[in-house]
Amino acid sequence: MRLKNCHNFQDFRSLAKQRLPGPIFHYIDGAADDERTYRRNTEAYDDCDLIPNVLTGVESVDMSVEVMGQKLAMPIYCAPTALQRLFHYEGERAVARAARNHGTMFGVSSLATVTIEEISAITDSPKMFQFYFHKDRGLNDALLERARAASFDVLALTVDTITGGNRERDLRTGFTSPPSLNLQSLLSFATHPAWAWNFLTREKFDMPHLSGYVSEGTNVAVSVGEYFSTMLDQSMNWNDAEKLCAQWNGQFALKGIMSVEDAKRAVDIGCTGIMVSNHGGRQLDGSRSPFDQLAEICDAVGDQVDVICEGGIRRGTHILKALSLGAKACSGGRFYLYALAAAGEAGVDRALENLRTEIERDMKLMGVTSLDQLSRENLRFR
Ligand code: GLV
Repeated sequence: MRLKNCHNFQDFRSLAKQRLPGPIFHYIDGAADDERTYRRNTEAYDDCDLIPNVLTGVESVDMSVEVMGQKLAMPIYCAPTALQRLFHYEGERAVARAARNHGTMFGVSSLATVTIEEISAITDSPKMFQFYFHKDRGLNDALLERARAASFDVLALTVDTITGGNRERDLRTGFTSPPSLNLQSLLSFATHPAWAWNFLTREKFDMPHLSGYVSEGTNVAVSVGEYFSTMLDQSMNWNDAEKLCAQWNGQFALKGIMSVEDAKRAVDIGCTGIMVSNHGGRQLDGSRSPFDQLAEICDAVGDQVDVICEGGIRRGTHILKALSLGAKACSGGRFYLYALAAAGEAGVDRALENLRTEIERDMKLMGVTSLDQLSRENLRFR
């Protein structure tokens, strides 16, 4: 498998599997418990069909959207994800450049491996900083002020990681950050020498936003689940979210909203966006999929807050279905992480380009020239 043969999500996944040591591939690929929610996130799109219109004149289509005050050239952006330099030595730099090339947003995680200042210097496209609410309030204040100083456009507080999900693949492979060196992991590094060479000879692995506050994840090896369970503040509540929103005083989203009740509260505390998301099926297995839950949420708050459908996206048609239901945009992690692992910036660039051409083709086949022409009229549930 080569990059030029990567035409879809599964192709990138196969190439990533080839390139990455097992524990790292399975960290990306895995989810919680029996991974039912993870599978449903994509399967949900199959329970709904598109009804196209024809003869509408579609020689030029505009797929831009505006979400949380940001103009995006395409209706999907790169959701924040952790630890990217473990997947490819270019890490977040590659994703920032590829997102910039496509005029879309890049979400940078609190657990990123490149600084937000450097990301900001790479791209003037819209940038989101993903915020984990730590027990250490000094760290929380530092993260927020750093994101502000680095001119990030949106702050997204993740609310679905109050404790770590049960990621059994990580338990089996022993995946930790930084990677721990035991017989099993050493073997998988030895059989992936290109990855191991880059990991050992390039810039030392680090999570620079935590430096000086937290050793877990950099100097002390932990699983991401353990990190959530021990470092994040389980007492986090609506008052904390409201205070953070006021402190940021700008575009602010809650990432990981699933219930209508919570969506309404998000509006009440002043959010300008919500990501309907179950964290890619990596937290609560058995949770409903974002696409299944989207209509309820859009009906309740879609005219008051920008609703983003996050998770399970593999195809342009998935995005058109979510937008037809009322989402303003979609976001995803694995679709670009496999591509990053496969080929760095060139991989992410190709993954975004594949989606861009799919969306353009699908819009033409649907008979629409702009995304606001989509509605529930063009959907039927089976
Ligand atoms: C990080 O957010 C993860 O889900 O591993």
